[in-house]
Amino acid sequence: MKPVVLITGASGNLGKAVVKRFYDENWEVIAVLSERSKAEVLNDFKGIQIFKTDAANEQKAADCLSKIIKTNPVIDAAVLTVGGYESGTIGQTSVKQIDKLIRLNFYSAWNFAQPVFKLMTQNNKGRLVMIGSQVAVKEEGGLFAIAYTLSKSVVIKLAELLNGSGNKHQVRCHTVNPSTIDTPQNRTAVPDADFTKWQKPEALAEEIFNFVNS
Ligand SMILES: NC(=O)c1ccc[n+]([C@@H]2O[C@H](COP(=O)([O-])OP(=O)(O)OC[C@H]3O[C@@H](n4cnc5c(N)ncnc54)[C@H](OP(=O)(O)O)[C@@H]3O)[C@@H](O)[C@H]2O)c1
Repeated sequence: MKPVVLITGASGNLGKAVVKRFYDENWEVIAVLSERSKAEVLNDFKGIQIFKTDAANEQKAADCLSKIIKTNPVIDAAVLTVGGYESGTIGQTSVKQIDKLIRLNFYSAWNFAQPVFKLMTQNNKGRLVMIGSQVAVKEEGGLFAIAYTLSKSVVIKLAELLNGSGNKHQVRCHTVNPSTIDTPQNRTAVPDADFTKWQKPEALAEEIFNFVNS
């Protein structure tokens, strides 16, 4: 039987590269898209399973996952890529913005990580990957994106906590902490930047694939 990987944010820049990396290695790919995403963006990947949900909504994410688990009782790996960026210094940051970014970056990860982790520990195997950010691990990083940095810091802490209780079940968790990813959106936002210094989605997908196979 093929190993099974669940990927959230699968239509995004990183998510799509991760889908390709696992698809090319003949994994069974379960792609989770936002409710607004068009499934056609994954047309290149014949035979993959596609689900849609609002990953930041606890009930909707749980409903989506129970549908997935009905036909996929074992999930070997999960890569949770949903997330997004907003800038804002300390003085500019409001509770409303922090709440928005926590939902987008942390709840979207938590809502899948918690039940998938439970399933993996029951099966005594699994690899879970979540996406943090360089700004959340660098000293004094993120001063221009306070809400974003706080939300990614919680994702990184969650990975540590899951590792603390997952080790005895052969379940391991990893965060990838990118700097700037080379995406069309970033190229448009910062047209004068040296794009060769940015991280390629394919290189991050490779890091994720190697961790999952470690
Ligand atoms: N881009 C960077 O420079 C950078 C740097 C450091 C860290 N990161 C992190 O890396 C990850 C991937 O970044 P990316 O550039 O690939 O982002 P992206 O292209 O914007 O992809 C994000 C994906 O998440 C989906 N999504 C957003 N909200 C959702 C929700 N509530 N429920 C379900 N799906 C939802 C989006 O779907 P729709 O398109 O339909 O909204 C999209 O497919 C993110 O966690 C990001 O924070 C990015």
